[in-house]
Amino acid sequence: MCGIVGYIGHKDTASILLNGLKELEYRGYDSAGIALLENKNIEIFKAIGKIKNLEEKIKSGEAKATHPKEPANAKFTIGIGHTRWATHGKPTELNAHPHMGEYSYVVHNGIIENYKELKAELESAGHKFLSQTDTEVIVHLFEYYNNKLQDTKAAFKNTIERLQGAYSILLITKEESEKIFFFKHGSPLIIAKGDEEILFSSSDAPLIGLVSQVVYLEDGVGGIADSKGIEFFSDNYSWATLPTSKLTAQKNGFRFFMEKEIYEQSDVVSDSMIGRLSDDEILFDELDENILDGINEIKICACGTSYHAALTASYLFERLAKIRCSVEIASEFRYKEPLLTQETLFVVVSQSGETADTLEALKMAKDAGLKTIVVCNVDNSSMTRVADTTILTRAGIEKGVASTKAFSTQTVVLWIMALFFAKKRDIISKEDLQNEIHALREVPKSLMVDSDIHEKTKRLSKRYLHGHGFFFIGRDVFFPLALEGALKLKEISYLHAEGYPSGEMKHGPIALADTELFTIALMPQHLLYDKVKSNVEELSARDSTICAISPLDFELSDDFIKTQKTDHYMLEFFEMLVVLQLLSMEIAVRLENDVDMPRNLAKSVTVE
Ligand code: AGP
Repeated sequence: MCGIVGYIGHKDTASILLNGLKELEYRGYDSAGIALLENKNIEIFKAIGKIKNLEEKIKSGEAKATHPKEPANAKFTIGIGHTRWATHGKPTELNAHPHMGEYSYVVHNGIIENYKELKAELESAGHKFLSQTDTEVIVHLFEYYNNKLQDTKAAFKNTIERLQGAYSILLITKEESEKIFFFKHGSPLIIAKGDEEILFSSSDAPLIGLVSQVVYLEDGVGGIADSKGIEFFSDNYSWATLPTSKLTAQKNGFRFFMEKEIYEQSDVVSDSMIGRLSDDEILFDELDENILDGINEIKICACGTSYHAALTASYLFERLAKIRCSVEIASEFRYKEPLLTQETLFVVVSQSGETADTLEALKMAKDAGLKTIVVCNVDNSSMTRVADTTILTRAGIEKGVASTKAFSTQTVVLWIMALFFAKKRDIISKEDLQNEIHALREVPKSLMVDSDIHEKTKRLSKRYLHGHGFFFIGRDVFFPLALEGALKLKEISYLHAEGYPSGEMKHGPIALADTELFTIALMPQHLLYDKVKSNVEELSARDSTICAISPLDFELSDDFIKTQKTDHYMLEFFEMLVVLQLLSMEIAVRLENDVDMPRNLAKSVTVE
């Protein structure tokens, strides 16, 4: 997902933009750039790869200054910056933002779906394009209208009206060299005001600690900002106060954000339960008492790790609340012409609240008149502004691209939701409810990282990094957990892995069994242990290399990770989750991969 920053003020504009881009690195990118403007003097710097490459160019003064340069002492008081995650056009300097016209410059997050026709129209009007991107049409369209109308505001508004798709934009121009033109549609954009300064960002991470007043712009809201103030084109906005403490995650002595976030799970899951359950009651005051009125099914929709949390929840909703529950992958759901009825409660799960497919699925359900809930980790994100009800997971900023604490908090919140529904439907006994609440209260302990287990995963990673194929197998809720373990391994070690229901192995995959095939078997004591055990024995008999994870001793495995004995299968679930997260991380470390920003991935996929 691309990242946007902007600044108007009297501080060191280049440093503020660079620091902002660094705070957005976790979103994933392949190039970056900034544009600095002062009167008629423009300096543009672009670099592929990491932000430090851009920083070096700025320090060396190696600007892509394509316009006459005024005295080097020109103090830049306005600038825009961008981290690009390539959609149209390869990751090259030419395709990096900011994109330029004759006298204007733009950064953009999203996709201009009609850029081809706009580009053809502009080329026939004599505009020359430098890049292969969709974004470049924005700045040429602006200049086309401004040349005609000699009015920058009208030109900007006309430009916006012609764009189709998702576009959050910051545009600067020599015609009004103290202003930033902005517009938000589809991709997130925040505007903030400080002491005679204005800042922009795609998320609040870069702003925390710098300013306190922000507007999380709604779709369709734009305007023009300068150091004296902000002119909004509509009144559909409200100011919010940012926490002042620097919430942005620091590694605090851990090697990676992912490692820190694995170790944080115990604490953040405790936070996610506050106000939602007492010793003997499910509270959940965000949920309307009558939310299940007229509802006979729950449909959950998500992507990636959030989909695995959704799949886990489907078992709990049916088992505990006795309510039919189906789960959909958002990118499939959007195009399958789904049958939507208002008896369905539609739940989306998303860490970022910005995933394009999940957001569009939510909008489809909303447009069809369904009751909608979003379980999300980022307040004021796009999905929270569409859904009827927002349930925040309170995991804190998750910077590792490989999602960890978001998954555990999502699963806990959905488990509590299942119990809330069970209570509302009056189908859970007081004793069973007590048992479930008791187990929930033990989850933070189950998520505590056991140092011996962490050491064991480091030792196992020595061998497993040579694996050419992995199966992660489990039954019931341990099947989505197996999917999650496989995804973690794939996305940070780049080794092939599959999550599979262990009962399915004999329906084909067991043909792959040999000493080269590593099978990670999830063998909980309290859920179908004997069934899973016989599946694992079948694999072991065919020479698969087995790593069993279980509270019960199991001699047939080549490697064995012993977990704590508990009295609830969901506690086994969370303890095994930590093992899988650590194992994938330690294998990636041995392979010297970038654990926090794995190749080809973005923290939030805001494009299709
Ligand atoms: C998980 O480790 C991945 N980063 C990815 O699958 C992610 O879960 C998916 O893109 C959904 O993101 P969201 O939760 O922000 O919607």
